Amino acid sequence: MKYDFDKIIDRRGTGALKTDALKEFFGRDDETPLWVADMDFEVAPEIAEALERRMAHHIYGYAVVPEGYKMSIVDWLRNRHGWEVEPSEIAYVNGVVRGIAFVLQYFTTKGDKVLIQPPVYHPFRRLIEGNGRVCVTSPLRAVEGGYEMDLEDLERKFAEERPAMMILCNPHNPVGIQWSRETLAAVASLAYKYGVKVISDEIHGDLMLWGTPHVPYLSVSPEAEATGILLGAPSKTFNIPGLASSWIVVKDKGLREGFYEWMETNEFSAPTFVATLATEAAYRNGEPWLDAATSYIEGNIRAVEQYCAECLPEIRPVRPGASFLIWLDCRPTGMCHEEIVKLFLDGAHLALNDGSIFGEEGRGYMRLNVGSPRSVILDALARLRKALDACHN
Ligand SMILES: Cc1ncc(COP(=O)(O)O)c(C=O)c1O
Repeated sequence: MKYDFDKIIDRRGTGALKTDALKEFFGRDDETPLWVADMDFEVAPEIAEALERRMAHHIYGYAVVPEGYKMSIVDWLRNRHGWEVEPSEIAYVNGVVRGIAFVLQYFTTKGDKVLIQPPVYHPFRRLIEGNGRVCVTSPLRAVEGGYEMDLEDLERKFAEERPAMMILCNPHNPVGIQWSRETLAAVASLAYKYGVKVISDEIHGDLMLWGTPHVPYLSVSPEAEATGILLGAPSKTFNIPGLASSWIVVKDKGLREGFYEWMETNEFSAPTFVATLATEAAYRNGEPWLDAATSYIEGNIRAVEQYCAECLPEIRPVRPGASFLIWLDCRPTGMCHEEIVKLFLDGAHLALNDGSIFGEEGRGYMRLNVGSPRSVILDALARLRKALDACHN
């Protein structure tokens, strides 16, 4: 095997949030870290080599944006997702969360309503409320083995609450759903009808599993193009989120022009050379690594499903359609949410994301990051089994 995803790499002491902030976030630091959404795998050698080559030249001055930077994104989107984007429709941004913040700041004003669909990536609510906007929710509907969008509720909220914006998570974190073309088109037509702008966070869109395609929101209809601002990145895909290498696509000229000018004036869309180098290396040469990584992740998901089915029936994993995060339904333990959190942390010494941070709807759930060597994941599940047994005794 060309890439060794089984290799256990000690990240403690490297300044990694996942390991070195355990004490701050969990009050102890002896847990296996399965929370922050990055992977414990070494990056594609092509990315490491490109960065090392540049870093070996010890002048880190102002840099020009390489001519090939935007084209590497254009070609990636065409080849990987069959989606055509012009270089002029792309702007660099130094993180997806920061990109959402810029969009909220530019397109909405204090007091405006912004809709999210919980359980959903927790910084969305913080961005909305922290910027003085008002959070409106249209929760996902739990169905057998997963979730779906409640389009009737969404229309009702659009009509009654009149939000200025909606933040869509496509694919959805934490439940791992890639929304279908039909669902996205339905959202777009409602957004168009009610004059709602849609931010589509597609940071997990390259990490599609089980051979299913990613559907970019902006690709589904003219209404989607007219309402949408899409954010993507090679960060989750290639395990380089520390390099701040995200990008925005806006197709609609009316939405784009003033916004991109504002981004440029404030130098919010000025990348570091590290970001452009890593992006080009990833998109031009990283695909074989990505394919190997996603197939390893699928193996990890199957291993979790098998272990839970055979040895841990109190935990029901919701199979993700994308990315390396598994939404664990822990309600069959019969415990209340606080007991579940304690079971993982103090009983099994595992640091997962507490499901309730994604919204009230996440009570009874935990989010497991399986972007780690399989032995680490299986050891974690075995410890969880033991902790549960200890509770019953
Ligand atoms: C849906 C979603 N958006 C954004 C981010 C963070 O992106 P960034 O680090 O580029 O701000 C994450 C990270 O987990 C995420 O899951």
